[in-house]
Amino acid sequence: MNRTAGEFRELYGYSPEGVWAAPGRVNLIGEHTDYNDGFALPFALPQRTEVAAARRTDGILRLHSADVRAGVLTLDAAGLDPARPPRGADAWAGYPAGVAWALLEAGLPADLTGGADLHVRSEVPTGAGLSSSAALEVATALALTGLHGLTPPSPELAALARRAENAYVGVPCGVMDQMASACATEGHALRLDTRTLEQRHIPFDCAAAGLGLLVVDTRVRHALADGAYAERRATCHRAAAALGLPALRDLPYAGLEEALSRLADPVARRRVRHVVTENERVLRVEESLRAGRLREAGPLLSAGHASLREDYEVSCPELDLAVATAEAAGAYGARMTGGGFGGSALALIDAEAEAEVTRAVTDAFVRAGFRPPRVTAAAPAAGADRIL
Ligand code: GLA
Repeated sequence: MNRTAGEFRELYGYSPEGVWAAPGRVNLIGEHTDYNDGFALPFALPQRTEVAAARRTDGILRLHSADVRAGVLTLDAAGLDPARPPRGADAWAGYPAGVAWALLEAGLPADLTGGADLHVRSEVPTGAGLSSSAALEVATALALTGLHGLTPPSPELAALARRAENAYVGVPCGVMDQMASACATEGHALRLDTRTLEQRHIPFDCAAAGLGLLVVDTRVRHALADGAYAERRATCHRAAAALGLPALRDLPYAGLEEALSRLADPVARRRVRHVVTENERVLRVEESLRAGRLREAGPLLSAGHASLREDYEVSCPELDLAVATAEAAGAYGARMTGGGFGGSALALIDAEAEAEVTRAVTDAFVRAGFRPPRVTAAAPAAGADRIL
């Protein structure tokens, strides 16, 4: 018996109708591009969030997590209100409750007002920049639709999950994380156009090329992250408007210098330069993956990190140290991944260098007086699915 299903039965006294799972993600390249309608190239992690669920008929939504010290939260499905999300110890439940709210708003499925019982268990570390929130949202969206026999297209589910996070939880994120969790496929990176939600599955088999991917969780989460994210987003939107463009996506790489000369604010110029060069890097990494020249992606990853550090100013000393140390220990390239200000870095290395790079990064953190990082090997895994 699946563990999450077993826990559901112990908790609620009957068996769930099914278990749905959605993974965390690492973004290979394309950072802070998604709210600019740009490109990103994430892949799914093997770590997943599972949701065991069953329908109810009395309009009650019950939520419980194995990972949080809080009891079962009981909500009125028809009364879910973005102005009053769960708070305090129950704040985690804002994600599944928000998804139920977004689905109800979309009328998908109509009889979701009957309510449901949910039990959640996750392997995706929280606060590590690996999209534990998106994994929870997407697994919930899959469960709540699946219970009613619906299988909406994955991009539609991802968009609803993002809406839950934006409008109900109140986090102004883009759609990359939810798309990666919902749509990624094993052995591939997901080349995502965040304007059209067009997806291309690009073969990314590191092992076959003798390569490996290391995820370095710095275990740092800076408090300023949320405000700084919203501020970056606003700066980009203002700059696009000043340039007369719908979004920075519409500024071609070849037109960058001319556009920069039209922006008076030096901060806005740096932010725009990051977004436009980052979109270009996504396309070039895609090319090198398609050509089977995986090592050539390395310097583009490192250039992406430099751009996030210097132009976008969302890195931090721990991320910079992880990247610089991995590079010095022989990585082909390394960069912070996710929103920044802490969270995780990613390094593309020779498979046989895994122990050496791990040791080098760990030692460097100790010498700098930082908390030891959590270093794990990653390989592109499958996106969300029903597992029971
Ligand atoms: C966070 C957000 C994403 C994306 C990244 C930065 O992970 O949730 O939508 O904006 O930051 O690329």
